[in-house]
Amino acid sequence: MSIQFGGDYNPEQWDEATWIEDVALMRAAGVTMVTVGVFAWARLEPVEGQYEFGWLDRVLELLHDGGIKVCLATPTAAPPAWMARRYPETLSVDRNGQRRTFGSRAHFCPSSPHYRERSAAIADALAERYADHPALALWHVNNEYNAECYCDISAADFRAWLRERYETIAALNETWGTAVWGQTYAEWAEVEPPRPSITLLNPARLLDWRRFVSDATLACFVNERDALRRRTPGVPVTTNFMTMHKTIDHWTWAAAEDVVALDAYPDPHSPTGSIDAGLECDRMRSLRGGQPWLLMESATSAVGWRSVNSARDPGQLRVASLQAVARGADAVMFFQWRASRRGAERFHSAMVPHSGPDSRIFREVSALGHDLERLAELAGTTVPADVAIVWDWTSWATLDESPRLSEHVTYGDQVLRYYRELWHRNIGVDLVRPTDDLSAYRLVLLPAAFALDDNPVLRQYVAGGGHLLASYATGTIDTTAAVHAGGAPGPLREVLGLRVEEANPLPAGVEVPVDDGYAVLWQDIVVPETATVLSRYTDGPWAGTPVVTANTYGAGIATYVGATLSDPLAARVLDEVCRQAGVEGHPAAPMVEVVERHSASHRYHLVLNHRPVPVDHTVPAGVDLLTGTECSGLIRLQPYDVKVIRV
Ligand code: GAL
Repeated sequence: MSIQFGGDYNPEQWDEATWIEDVALMRAAGVTMVTVGVFAWARLEPVEGQYEFGWLDRVLELLHDGGIKVCLATPTAAPPAWMARRYPETLSVDRNGQRRTFGSRAHFCPSSPHYRERSAAIADALAERYADHPALALWHVNNEYNAECYCDISAADFRAWLRERYETIAALNETWGTAVWGQTYAEWAEVEPPRPSITLLNPARLLDWRRFVSDATLACFVNERDALRRRTPGVPVTTNFMTMHKTIDHWTWAAAEDVVALDAYPDPHSPTGSIDAGLECDRMRSLRGGQPWLLMESATSAVGWRSVNSARDPGQLRVASLQAVARGADAVMFFQWRASRRGAERFHSAMVPHSGPDSRIFREVSALGHDLERLAELAGTTVPADVAIVWDWTSWATLDESPRLSEHVTYGDQVLRYYRELWHRNIGVDLVRPTDDLSAYRLVLLPAAFALDDNPVLRQYVAGGGHLLASYATGTIDTTAAVHAGGAPGPLREVLGLRVEEANPLPAGVEVPVDDGYAVLWQDIVVPETATVLSRYTDGPWAGTPVVTANTYGAGIATYVGATLSDPLAARVLDEVCRQAGVEGHPAAPMVEVVERHSASHRYHLVLNHRPVPVDHTVPAGVDLLTGTECSGLIRLQPYDVKVIRV
């Protein structure tokens, strides 16, 4: 076992002499695997139906001779110019009806039969050609699927999807509530994608559209995956997820893959960048039940698409990469190997920067490659977690969508608020769906779980002795987008021992005093039924109304937080809930991250300093795998330093 190290390799931008130099540099840097051909469709199939594999044969041969494995991509995120010209219907259409033009990437309509046919054909041709190639280790399908198309082909596909779901137009009318504003459909042909209209659209229609978009794109992935699996059943298939793409439901998608892969580009200058990156790592590990995942792309330094593309500080590349390893990644890869001189990404950093191998970046890259060699025994080990945060795609898709309660409250922010508190305490976290088995966790957090159906799993979890912390907006609607009769928290009313009589989202900047702090963004008007009140509003029209409550339900306790609390208050509530649940973290200095990985025989204690200043930290006795030295007790970590201690 080993931890893979490498990046996207785009040899179609370079000549053969450069390929030869590349392989030598890859070896020097400790590269073990590269992703080849992500955008190479025009080079592989310059004329429809005529494949040119000679150049790729040579690239794969050079890589194999250099001992480097290949993650071979299907190039279907970059359909060539001939496809746009001959089959303009393969170009996607935006919400406003504007057809996208050729000249960027990812411009395909996922429902286009011709696009799907040509994608499967090139996937099949690649698999046929390289099925027995000794360098082939992994398939990478497309790139960061994020397609959404409002064309007439997509509209017909949407209708077919709806017919399968609802069977009759009457059932669709009922579920969507089309009686409101006279939106009743008499026949399927009248149903269109949610293109813009005068004012608000029907939220159930928007939610079904989201689901359809995810499924239509997934059908593209499956279409290629199946072509690949037919010829290479033993080679795993993945596609690279992107953090903030709401267009696809990562839970459903991960089940269709063999291994999960992430592209992570945290802002090096955001004070919470490395914390929020931790959430993404934990989410990726959780998508397939704790299976090791792959950091498929990251930046060695600056990206090329922010308004200000700042460099990473010296040392930041290492700590950010090892953070992914700490949180379960078995690969650290970058976009891209060699910096492009031309084209849209000419200012994006790379493993070999424009300044060449005699550079700070290449030295840091090489050092990291050799660090990962020393960490080989971590591959395949697991990351323990006592706490689960419910991450629910339907709540994400609906809470942030208009008609909504507050534009200041987004699902991602609500989850991050709780995640950050856990991160600062170095408490291990998994992400789960609301219906997953929760029995392994001491504590489950339910931040803004807006769309909940009746949920026996959560009920049984608390009744059986579990600890639950739910926040406002939870259980407001069901998964058809209808508001629960009786109001929030809908199916959790008994578990939480309360009902929310009204929700009062607060204007930006308004602070409502609470016993020992204040509330912002939102104020639930909570009516306790069996719950005990822990704190109340002390001023304003709802003075005396509960803010935080706790309810004993069976053998467990369910806490409710009906507002966004000021930080110290939020911290106190979480500390108390953790104490009750018996959850303990690893105390550390600010921005020092502590994570454990376990194997059958060993415990690994990883300490990561995310700040550009030295810090002291107390570690258990063991060997630091990165330096090979024994350490125990109080040690000093240099700026951005990392220790990986086999205890
Ligand atoms: C990713 C993409 C790569 C590259 C990178 C730059 O989102 O998959 O192809 O564009 O961004 O940051």
